[in-house]
Amino acid sequence: MLPIYKNKILLTDYISSVRQAEKTVGFVPTMGALHDGHISLIEKSSEESDITVCSIFVNPTQFNETSDFEKYPRMIEKDIQILGNTNCSVIFAPDSKEIYTDESIDLIDIKLGYLEHELEGKFRPGHFKGVVSVVKRLFDIVQPDKAFFGQKDYQQFMIIKKMVEHFNLKTELICCPVIREKDGLAMSSRNLRLTPKERDFAPTIYQSLIGAKELLGKSTIKEIKSWAESLLSKNDLVELEYFEIRNAEDLKPVKDVNEVNELAILAALKVGKVRLIDNILVKPH
Ligand code: PAF
Repeated sequence: MLPIYKNKILLTDYISSVRQAEKTVGFVPTMGALHDGHISLIEKSSEESDITVCSIFVNPTQFNETSDFEKYPRMIEKDIQILGNTNCSVIFAPDSKEIYTDESIDLIDIKLGYLEHELEGKFRPGHFKGVVSVVKRLFDIVQPDKAFFGQKDYQQFMIIKKMVEHFNLKTELICCPVIREKDGLAMSSRNLRLTPKERDFAPTIYQSLIGAKELLGKSTIKEIKSWAESLLSKNDLVELEYFEIRNAEDLKPVKDVNEVNELAILAALKVGKVRLIDNILVKPH
Protein backbone atom coordinates (compact mmCIF):
# COMPACT_ATOMS: atom_id res chain seq x y z
CA MET A 1 0.00 0.00 0.00
CA LEU A 2 1.05 3.58 -0.73
CA PRO A 3 2.82 5.09 2.31
CA ILE A 4 0.93 8.04 3.83
CA TYR A 5 2.80 10.50 6.03
CA LYS A 6 0.90 12.89 8.25
CA ASN A 7 3.95 13.96 10.21
CA LYS A 8 6.46 16.28 8.52
CA ILE A 9 9.46 14.98 10.49
CA LEU A 10 8.76 11.41 9.36
CA LEU A 11 8.38 12.58 5.76
CA THR A 12 11.65 14.54 6.01
CA ASP A 13 13.40 11.36 7.26
CA TYR A 14 11.99 9.44 4.32
CA ILE A 15 13.14 12.15 1.88
CA SER A 16 16.64 12.06 3.45
CA SER A 17 16.83 8.32 2.80
CA VAL A 18 15.78 8.92 -0.82
CA ARG A 19 18.50 11.56 -1.16
CA GLN A 20 21.10 9.22 0.35
CA ALA A 21 20.22 6.73 -2.35
CA GLU A 22 20.91 9.56 -4.86
CA LYS A 23 17.35 9.54 -6.15
CA THR A 24 15.48 12.57 -7.42
CA VAL A 25 12.25 13.86 -5.89
CA GLY A 26 9.25 15.13 -7.87
CA PHE A 27 6.45 16.92 -6.04
CA VAL A 28 2.78 17.48 -6.84
CA PRO A 29 1.07 19.71 -4.24
CA THR A 30 -2.74 19.39 -4.21
CA MET A 31 -5.76 20.22 -2.11
CA GLY A 32 -7.26 16.78 -2.80
CA ALA A 33 -10.56 15.90 -4.54
CA LEU A 34 -8.28 14.51 -7.20
CA HIS A 35 -9.23 14.35 -10.86
CA ASP A 36 -7.48 13.52 -14.12
CA GLY A 37 -5.73 16.91 -14.11
CA HIS A 38 -3.91 15.94 -10.90
CA ILE A 39 -3.20 12.46 -12.23
CA SER A 40 -1.54 13.97 -15.31
CA LEU A 41 0.78 15.93 -12.97
CA ILE A 42 1.63 12.76 -11.01
CA GLU A 43 2.39 10.87 -14.22
CA LYS A 44 4.56 13.70 -15.55
CA SER A 45 6.43 13.83 -12.25
CA SER A 46 7.00 10.08 -12.22
CA GLU A 47 8.39 10.24 -15.77
CA GLU A 48 10.88 12.91 -14.73
CA SER A 49 11.73 11.89 -11.14
CA ASP A 50 12.74 8.73 -9.25
CA ILE A 51 10.10 9.23 -6.60
CA THR A 52 6.93 11.35 -6.58
CA VAL A 53 5.43 12.92 -3.46
CA CYS A 54 1.81 14.10 -3.64
CA SER A 55 0.58 16.34 -0.85
CA ILE A 56 -3.09 16.66 0.08
CA PHE A 57 -3.79 19.71 2.20
CA VAL A 58 -6.73 22.08 1.95
CA ASN A 59 -4.83 25.24 2.79
CA PRO A 60 -6.99 27.53 4.96
CA THR A 61 -4.90 30.66 4.34
CA GLN A 62 -5.60 30.85 0.59
CA PHE A 63 -9.39 31.03 0.85
CA ASN A 64 -10.91 34.50 1.04
CA GLU A 65 -14.34 33.20 1.95
CA THR A 66 -14.82 30.91 4.93
CA SER A 67 -17.76 29.24 3.19
CA ASP A 68 -15.55 28.39 0.17
CA PHE A 69 -13.02 26.78 2.54
CA GLU A 70 -15.73 24.87 4.38
CA LYS A 71 -17.42 23.67 1.19
CA TYR A 72 -14.19 22.71 -0.58
CA PRO A 73 -14.61 19.01 -1.44
CA ARG A 74 -12.71 16.67 0.90
CA MET A 75 -12.53 12.97 0.05
CA ILE A 76 -9.25 11.69 1.38
CA GLU A 77 -10.15 7.97 1.27
CA LYS A 78 -11.09 8.21 -2.41
CA ASP A 79 -7.95 10.28 -3.12
CA ILE A 80 -5.76 7.61 -1.51
CA GLN A 81 -7.46 4.97 -3.65
CA ILE A 82 -6.93 7.06 -6.82
CA LEU A 83 -3.26 7.66 -6.01
CA GLY A 84 -2.82 3.91 -5.40
CA ASN A 85 -3.48 3.39 -9.11
CA THR A 86 -0.85 5.95 -10.20
CA ASN A 87 2.94 6.09 -10.05
CA CYS A 88 2.81 8.25 -6.92
CA SER A 89 5.40 6.97 -4.39
CA VAL A 90 4.20 8.61 -1.20
CA ILE A 91 1.36 10.78 0.08
CA PHE A 92 1.85 13.68 2.49
CA ALA A 93 -1.45 14.51 4.20
CA PRO A 94 -0.62 16.84 7.09
CA ASP A 95 -2.94 18.44 9.62
CA SER A 96 -2.91 22.21 9.71
CA LYS A 97 -0.70 22.21 12.82
CA GLU A 98 2.07 20.46 10.85
CA ILE A 99 2.16 23.44 8.50
CA TYR A 100 1.14 26.41 10.66
CA THR A 101 1.52 27.18 14.33
CA ASP A 102 -0.92 30.05 13.88
CA GLU A 103 -2.72 30.36 10.53
CA SER A 104 -3.45 34.05 11.02
CA ILE A 105 0.12 35.18 11.56
CA ASP A 106 2.32 32.55 9.95
CA LEU A 107 2.02 34.12 6.51
CA ILE A 108 5.01 34.69 4.29
CA ASP A 109 4.90 38.24 3.02
CA ILE A 110 7.19 38.71 0.03
CA LYS A 111 6.88 41.34 -2.67
CA LEU A 112 5.00 39.76 -5.55
CA GLY A 113 4.89 42.97 -7.55
CA TYR A 114 2.44 43.61 -10.34
CA LEU A 115 0.94 40.11 -10.25
CA GLU A 116 -0.24 40.31 -6.67
CA HIS A 117 -3.18 42.69 -7.16
CA GLU A 118 -4.16 41.86 -10.75
CA LEU A 119 -6.75 39.36 -12.03
CA GLU A 120 -6.96 36.66 -9.33
CA GLY A 121 -5.16 38.98 -6.90
CA LYS A 122 -7.78 41.67 -7.41
CA PHE A 123 -10.77 39.39 -6.91
CA ARG A 124 -9.20 37.24 -4.19
CA PRO A 125 -7.27 39.64 -1.93
CA GLY A 126 -4.67 37.82 0.16
CA HIS A 127 -5.09 34.59 -1.82
CA PHE A 128 -1.56 34.53 -3.20
CA LYS A 129 -0.02 35.29 0.19
CA GLY A 130 -1.73 32.10 1.40
CA VAL A 131 -0.53 30.13 -1.64
CA VAL A 132 3.06 31.32 -1.22
CA SER A 133 2.95 30.57 2.51
CA VAL A 134 1.85 26.99 2.04
CA VAL A 135 3.95 26.17 -1.02
CA LYS A 136 7.15 27.52 0.61
CA ARG A 137 6.50 25.41 3.70
CA LEU A 138 5.73 22.32 1.63
CA PHE A 139 8.90 22.87 -0.44
CA ASP A 140 10.93 23.19 2.80
CA ILE A 141 9.61 19.81 3.93
CA VAL A 142 9.73 17.91 0.61
CA GLN A 143 12.84 19.64 -0.86
CA PRO A 144 11.78 18.67 -4.39
CA ASP A 145 14.07 18.71 -7.42
CA LYS A 146 11.01 19.41 -9.56
CA ALA A 147 7.47 20.54 -8.72
CA PHE A 148 4.52 20.18 -11.08
CA PHE A 149 1.59 22.61 -11.37
CA GLY A 150 -1.38 22.90 -13.72
CA GLN A 151 -1.63 25.70 -16.26
CA LYS A 152 -5.25 26.21 -15.20
CA ASP A 153 -3.84 28.27 -12.33
CA TYR A 154 -1.49 30.15 -14.63
CA GLN A 155 -1.12 33.24 -12.43
CA GLN A 156 -0.45 30.98 -9.43
CA PHE A 157 2.35 29.33 -11.41
CA MET A 158 3.91 32.73 -12.12
CA ILE A 159 3.61 33.75 -8.46
CA ILE A 160 5.29 30.52 -7.33
CA LYS A 161 8.05 31.19 -9.86
CA LYS A 162 8.59 34.58 -8.17
CA MET A 163 8.66 32.91 -4.77
CA VAL A 164 11.29 30.41 -5.96
CA GLU A 165 13.39 33.29 -7.32
CA HIS A 166 12.94 35.32 -4.13
CA PHE A 167 14.18 32.52 -1.86
CA ASN A 168 16.70 31.30 -4.42
CA LEU A 169 15.29 27.77 -4.23
CA LYS A 170 16.73 24.95 -6.32
CA THR A 171 13.37 23.47 -7.27
CA GLU A 172 12.55 23.48 -10.98
CA LEU A 173 8.93 24.39 -11.69
CA ILE A 174 7.03 22.64 -14.45
CA CYS A 175 3.77 24.02 -15.85
CA CYS A 176 1.58 21.23 -17.28
CA PRO A 177 -1.31 21.60 -19.76
CA VAL A 178 -4.92 22.05 -18.66
CA ILE A 179 -6.81 18.75 -18.72
CA ARG A 180 -10.38 19.13 -19.97
CA GLU A 181 -13.63 17.22 -19.90
CA LYS A 182 -14.90 16.06 -23.32
CA ASP A 183 -17.01 19.24 -23.62
CA GLY A 184 -14.01 21.49 -22.93
CA LEU A 185 -14.63 22.32 -19.26
CA ALA A 186 -11.28 22.57 -17.46
CA MET A 187 -11.06 19.88 -14.79
CA SER A 188 -11.29 21.32 -11.29
CA SER A 189 -12.18 19.95 -7.88
CA ARG A 190 -14.76 22.75 -7.71
CA ASN A 191 -16.72 21.27 -10.66
CA LEU A 192 -18.11 18.74 -8.19
CA ARG A 193 -20.12 21.54 -6.60
CA LEU A 194 -21.93 22.57 -9.81
CA THR A 195 -25.64 21.82 -10.09
CA PRO A 196 -26.70 20.06 -13.38
CA LYS A 197 -27.87 23.43 -14.79
CA GLU A 198 -24.61 25.13 -13.87
CA ARG A 199 -22.62 22.19 -15.25
CA ASP A 200 -24.50 22.58 -18.58
CA PHE A 201 -23.40 26.18 -18.80
CA ALA A 202 -19.78 25.66 -17.64
CA PRO A 203 -18.28 24.60 -21.06
CA THR A 204 -19.21 28.08 -22.34
CA ILE A 205 -16.10 29.31 -20.52
CA TYR A 206 -13.80 27.33 -22.80
CA GLN A 207 -15.94 28.29 -25.80
CA SER A 208 -15.37 31.96 -24.94
CA LEU A 209 -11.60 31.43 -24.81
CA ILE A 210 -11.51 29.58 -28.13
CA GLY A 211 -13.89 32.10 -29.71
CA ALA A 212 -11.61 34.94 -28.58
CA LYS A 213 -8.59 33.15 -30.04
CA GLU A 214 -10.36 32.89 -33.39
CA LEU A 215 -11.16 36.61 -33.38
CA LEU A 216 -7.52 37.63 -32.78
CA GLY A 217 -6.25 39.61 -35.74
CA LYS A 218 -9.82 40.15 -37.02
CA SER A 219 -11.11 42.36 -34.19
CA THR A 220 -9.56 44.67 -31.62
CA ILE A 221 -8.87 43.41 -28.10
CA LYS A 222 -11.65 45.67 -26.84
CA GLU A 223 -14.13 44.16 -29.32
CA ILE A 224 -13.04 40.60 -28.49
CA LYS A 225 -13.39 41.24 -24.78
CA SER A 226 -16.88 42.68 -25.11
CA TRP A 227 -17.92 39.75 -27.36
CA ALA A 228 -16.71 37.26 -24.71
CA GLU A 229 -18.16 39.25 -21.82
CA SER A 230 -21.60 39.28 -23.40
CA LEU A 231 -21.40 35.54 -24.21
CA LEU A 232 -20.53 34.75 -20.58
CA SER A 233 -22.91 37.22 -18.97
CA LYS A 234 -25.96 36.10 -20.98
CA ASN A 235 -26.79 33.53 -18.37
CA ASP A 236 -28.52 34.52 -15.11
CA LEU A 237 -26.42 31.98 -13.21
CA VAL A 238 -23.22 33.84 -14.02
CA GLU A 239 -21.36 36.64 -12.32
CA LEU A 240 -18.40 37.47 -14.55
CA GLU A 241 -15.29 38.66 -12.70
CA TYR A 242 -12.92 39.14 -15.60
CA PHE A 243 -12.21 38.20 -19.18
CA GLU A 244 -8.76 39.42 -20.18
CA ILE A 245 -6.24 39.12 -22.98
CA ARG A 246 -2.76 39.64 -21.55
CA ASN A 247 0.91 39.18 -22.32
CA ALA A 248 1.61 35.58 -21.20
CA GLU A 249 5.09 36.58 -20.04
CA ASP A 250 4.00 38.99 -17.27
CA LEU A 251 0.19 39.14 -17.49
CA LYS A 252 0.34 42.85 -18.32
CA PRO A 253 -2.31 44.32 -20.66
CA VAL A 254 -1.55 44.23 -24.37
CA LYS A 255 -2.15 47.07 -26.81
CA ASP A 256 -1.10 45.34 -30.00
CA VAL A 257 -1.20 41.54 -30.13
CA ASN A 258 1.63 41.54 -32.66
CA GLU A 259 3.99 43.04 -30.10
CA VAL A 260 4.08 39.95 -27.86
CA ASN A 261 5.33 36.38 -28.33
CA GLU A 262 2.49 34.73 -26.49
CA LEU A 263 -0.91 35.78 -25.20
CA ALA A 264 -2.82 34.48 -22.20
CA ILE A 265 -6.60 34.63 -22.58
CA LEU A 266 -8.05 34.28 -19.10
CA ALA A 267 -11.52 34.16 -17.57
CA ALA A 268 -12.88 34.01 -14.03
CA LEU A 269 -16.54 33.85 -13.08
CA LYS A 270 -18.97 32.60 -10.53
CA VAL A 271 -21.40 30.04 -11.86
CA GLY A 272 -24.02 29.93 -9.14
CA LYS A 273 -21.93 29.83 -5.96
CA VAL A 274 -18.94 28.14 -7.61
CA ARG A 275 -15.98 30.21 -8.77
CA LEU A 276 -14.33 28.85 -11.91
CA ILE A 277 -11.24 29.99 -13.80
CA ASP A 278 -9.72 28.94 -17.11
CA ASN A 279 -7.18 30.16 -19.65
CA ILE A 280 -5.48 29.34 -22.91
CA LEU A 281 -2.08 30.40 -24.19
CA VAL A 282 -1.94 31.55 -27.80
CA LYS A 283 0.90 32.45 -30.14
CA PRO A 284 -0.43 35.46 -32.07
CA HIS A 285 1.89 35.03 -35.09
O1 PAF B 1 -3.33 24.67 -6.91
C1 PAF B 1 -3.64 24.20 -5.79
O2 PAF B 1 -4.30 23.16 -5.67
C2 PAF B 1 -3.19 24.93 -4.53
O3 PAF B 1 -3.21 26.30 -4.72
C3 PAF B 1 -1.80 24.46 -4.03
C4 PAF B 1 -0.72 24.76 -5.03
C5 PAF B 1 -1.85 22.97 -3.74
C6 PAF B 1 -1.46 25.20 -2.73
O4 PAF B 1 -2.39 24.96 -1.74
